Amino acid sequence: MLFALIVLSLFGIIKYINYLTNVRCKSLKNLAGKTILITGGNSGLGLELAKNVATRGGTIIIADKNDATETVNELIKESNNINIFYEFVDFASFKSVRAFAQEFKTKYRKLDILVNNAGVGSGLGKTEDDLETTMQINYFSHFLLTHLLLDILIKAPHSRIVFSSSAAAYVTNLNKDNLKCCSNQNMFLRKIFSYSNSKVALALMSKSLAEKLKGTQVTCYAHHPGLVKTNIFKSTPIKGIWFLPVLILWTCAWLWGKDTDSGIQTMLHLITADKVEKKTGKFFMECIPVWQPPVVHNNKLREDIWNLSEEYVKLKSNERIDTILKIT
Ligand SMILES: *[C@@H]1O[C@H](CO)[C@@H](O)[C@H](O)[C@H]1NC(C)=O
Repeated sequence: MLFALIVLSLFGIIKYINYLTNVRCKSLKNLAGKTILITGGNSGLGLELAKNVATRGGTIIIADKNDATETVNELIKESNNINIFYEFVDFASFKSVRAFAQEFKTKYRKLDILVNNAGVGSGLGKTEDDLETTMQINYFSHFLLTHLLLDILIKAPHSRIVFSSSAAAYVTNLNKDNLKCCSNQNMFLRKIFSYSNSKVALALMSKSLAEKLKGTQVTCYAHHPGLVKTNIFKSTPIKGIWFLPVLILWTCAWLWGKDTDSGIQTMLHLITADKVEKKTGKFFMECIPVWQPPVVHNNKLREDIWNLSEEYVKLKSNERIDTILKIT
């Protein structure tokens, strides 16, 4: 009897949390005339976002490592929007990111909305650029890409940059010594924090970028989409230290997880809502700005991470933000 009661109330609570955390974007804004780049747009939340945005008009470019030609054809059929394109990019390689940015500017020439969404759940190996895989795919490559596209973003009126961060950004051990892979690292901590550190780095970047872009019309936002049933942790091995955390995460996703349509609502809000521009640099959940992850409040660390990131992605002096702001 008592057991049944506990189970029933548990389901009640779960239902209530589900109800509270399913805020929807109310804007019906049409995006015709806008050029929108979605990284990782061939699966999960990126794909769901592409689907929605396709129906709002606009030119959509899906940048992904996996060939999205079929996805694009389906999107065109479903939405009757013929301006949907696929471009290859491998976010584990700065060479590939640079080639993509160059190609993008030549082909599309303008950019109104950049959605820095591509990401992986785990990956501790080193990339060809001597950085940790998760950190490079989720963060460093987007740091580089954003810089390379900044001039055309600045030229577009009221352009926006959206960073797919995560609530994991609230539990991290990021500092300037472990930003770059593996110098004197405790492997156990590294495994635990590689994902959350990459996600908090995006939140740090968003806040810093908003400050540096004051005086331009570009605004930027980081957000947590909620716990969504996507495949991002599929590649995480369920063994060793991963067993318990992954099991808990999967159970939670199964019980509380949103579908991808609910998962894109905050992103949609950040892309379409008119009033949001005053909230540049803030961290969003369920379409509202919330208290930033603790590390983001540390201004000195934020500046250190920015400067080190410039160094690690090998940014050229004419690609740095102060130079770009001077010449555009
Ligand atoms: C970061 O780089 C800028 C520009 O080079 C410099 O002025 C600033 O002092 C650096 N900040 C830190 C914390 O090293």
